[in-house]
Amino acid sequence: MRTEAGRGRRGFLAAALLSAAAAATHGAWAAEEAAGGPQAAVGAQVPAAFGADWQSWHAANDVSDMASVQRGARNFVSYCLGCHSLKYERWSRLAQDLGVPPRLLQQDLLPPGDKPAQYILTSMPAADAQDWFGKTPPDLTLMARARGQDYLYQFLRTFYLDSATQTGANNLRLPATAMPHVLSELEGLKRAVYRQAAGTAAAGRATDKPVFDHFEQIAPGRLSAADYDSFVRDTVNFLDYVSEPTQTARRALGVWVVLFLLVFTWLAWLVKREYWKDVH
Ligand code: HEC
Repeated sequence: MRTEAGRGRRGFLAAALLSAAAAATHGAWAAEEAAGGPQAAVGAQVPAAFGADWQSWHAANDVSDMASVQRGARNFVSYCLGCHSLKYERWSRLAQDLGVPPRLLQQDLLPPGDKPAQYILTSMPAADAQDWFGKTPPDLTLMARARGQDYLYQFLRTFYLDSATQTGANNLRLPATAMPHVLSELEGLKRAVYRQAAGTAAAGRATDKPVFDHFEQIAPGRLSAADYDSFVRDTVNFLDYVSEPTQTARRALGVWVVLFLLVFTWLAWLVKREYWKDVH
């Protein structure tokens, strides 16, 4: 059992981390405004425009790639467990499926005080989360099955700066999300560029509602674009695994089942031929 003091301390740590992240985002935003726009913020570097096709981005993850699932587990523990739980999976099950030796489980993944037999729970108290975000961060055990891998992938890659929101960030996949851009330190900061789309509203009047056009990277993160992409893909891969831990075993078994049925059909056909030999 975790003590109340432990909970409180870790809750406080999470809050401190969160406000630091929010401050960093707002800080960068303010710095950019002061410097007279995004171009100035990155000096001579031309901002890369990308993301116009974000709706067709695919996770293309592979749950049988164990190294990737392991990296995803490490990412989850470092960047998501502070707010989200995986309440239907135990640490011991995770270690067994991912081939993590007990020593490494204890050393790298298990939060201090937790036992391997315990479920993977966040230390953030739900009531506090409700106060801080206006929403409790949902449990992520079944999120990959509920939303799909592509959704998660797009969600984690379409955060952008938005000074109008409380967290300083917004998201294309889940507009006005209460989740801060917790990976901004890795990804860097990007802003969304809109264009005016001349359309016709239901009433027949012309509208000029801005629609998303592309992203502009305005500050680099610790990872390159390709590395951030792998980071997100590994994380989604891990969430995919957690949403159905037996899926790799199930698929491997399926091949044998189909083979057995084929052999059995052949045997049954031989028997049938033997029985009917004298009748025909
Ligand atoms: C600082 C707390 C915090 C951290 C850290 C955090 N999240 Fe969240 N997350 C939230 C909150 C709050 C919501 C609820 C957002 C909403 O419904 O608007 C949320 C929602 C989500 C959702 C659900 C989106 C939906 O469609 O309902 C997913 C998926 C998610 N987070 C993934 C992650 C992943 C993966 C990480 C780690 C890389 C992570 N989160 C880290 C706070 C956090």
